[in-house]
Amino acid sequence: MANYVVAIDQGTTSTRAIIFDKAGSIISVGQKEHEQIMPQAGWVEHDAAEIWQNVQEVIGIALGRADLTRHDIASIGITNQRETTVVWNKHTGVPVYNAIVWQDTRTQDIVDRLAADGGTDRFKEIVGLPLATYFSGTKIAWILENVEGARASADAGDLIFGTTDSWVLWNLTGGPEGGVHATDVTNASRTLFMDLATLEWRDDILDAFGVPKSMMPAIKSSSEVYGVAEDSSLLRETPISGILGDQQAATFGQAAFEAGESKNTYGTGCFLIFNTGEEIVHSKNGLLTTVGYKLGDGPTHYALEGSIAVTGSLIQWLRDQLGIIESAPDVEELSASVPDNGGVYIVPAFSGLYAPYWRPDARGAIVGLTRYANKGHIARAALEAVAFQTRDVLDAVNADAGVDLTELKVDGGMVANNALMQFQADVLGVPVVRPVVAETTALGAAYAAGLAVGFWSGLDDLSANWQEDRRWEPAMEQEEQDRQLRLWRKAVTKSMDWVD
Ligand code: G3P
Repeated sequence: MANYVVAIDQGTTSTRAIIFDKAGSIISVGQKEHEQIMPQAGWVEHDAAEIWQNVQEVIGIALGRADLTRHDIASIGITNQRETTVVWNKHTGVPVYNAIVWQDTRTQDIVDRLAADGGTDRFKEIVGLPLATYFSGTKIAWILENVEGARASADAGDLIFGTTDSWVLWNLTGGPEGGVHATDVTNASRTLFMDLATLEWRDDILDAFGVPKSMMPAIKSSSEVYGVAEDSSLLRETPISGILGDQQAATFGQAAFEAGESKNTYGTGCFLIFNTGEEIVHSKNGLLTTVGYKLGDGPTHYALEGSIAVTGSLIQWLRDQLGIIESAPDVEELSASVPDNGGVYIVPAFSGLYAPYWRPDARGAIVGLTRYANKGHIARAALEAVAFQTRDVLDAVNADAGVDLTELKVDGGMVANNALMQFQADVLGVPVVRPVVAETTALGAAYAAGLAVGFWSGLDDLSANWQEDRRWEPAMEQEEQDRQLRLWRKAVTKSMDWVD
């Protein structure tokens, strides 16, 4: 009997396979990190072949740890770091260049060139996104313009594009031997090429970017059978039946199915998603409009999104570049070694600033340093930066929604940090709520995959699985909150206008 569903979570820093049971509980996890390749300032790449290798390994690890075989698995869901761009030869399966990661800012010239005719909001009404280095379309254009031979091969129809969901799906379903070249509506909505209303690629925008339509994957719903795993796979013949970009998957895993519901995920970056139901809402406050989910032939659910580029990766930076902690969780202890931030603020604008500012010319800043400041203050300021950035985004959501959120559902790796969650509630002024299963990204993909094959019968089944684990109530005096926010926003202004 197939009592479980597998979710493959192809994230920015690692790839995981997580096996869930019907209650939405985690049975087993396989995880592998992959290399972050940074050839120069602002460039971030991944080796797509390494990622595919890791996908296969983590599936084996997860099955092995739970002593399960493919016969125990009803279906496979895929969730992924969004926007990260792979272009590969469809006859050989070999990528023509490393995957260009969502955080990479090398495409600013392409953005400027396209924005020269109509500004950065040129396509926003149609696709929900401003022109920015963040989105896949600019990265595909860069590969075609800069990798030798790529343009000619693309024009000849030999090259195809995918975000890492498509890359995993294509390889898992046979690669050059009949691999399925598809993506789901949530990932497609991050390219700059999909019309939010029709859910189809826009020929005029593809033309403006110089990207042949033949490179683009078929756009499918988030929950349907796309294909089955190929013969050499450990999961041979198992249907692949759910795909959601990781932030949309987390929203789905939090059972935030209806308009007005939201969540914030603390991963490499932070992404606050606010479900607007079947309505396409355009932000007046620096948020993105994106697809939330679409189940089979069902209606499309849209969302507003506040994307913050650097949160968890700031802690990794403390570990890898500054060396002031040995492992990421050590940040909690180091920051607790001081009673407060000592007046230090960090604005981690490593990829410019995303929502709600959208300032590609911003760069990271540490301000308020005195001779008194020590590494404890730096660690504390780093954690606080995560919470302050979330506050900025929440203000934008409240302004767009016209009503204030009364609590915030949270998930992702950093929600294990109690001090951070308390500070988050303090600077938001609303309770912060963590579910029992904080791995909501993988859970959401498992849900989408399980729904398509009848493993779960409907959304009510999924809502019944959601359980509160812990809630942090705001405890900071209003005057102190105002002072903190004033200083934070002053620090943000210091990070702007830095690019020469
Ligand atoms: O848009 C980028 C986002 O999908 C990356 O998520 O969890 O890998 O930081 P994460």
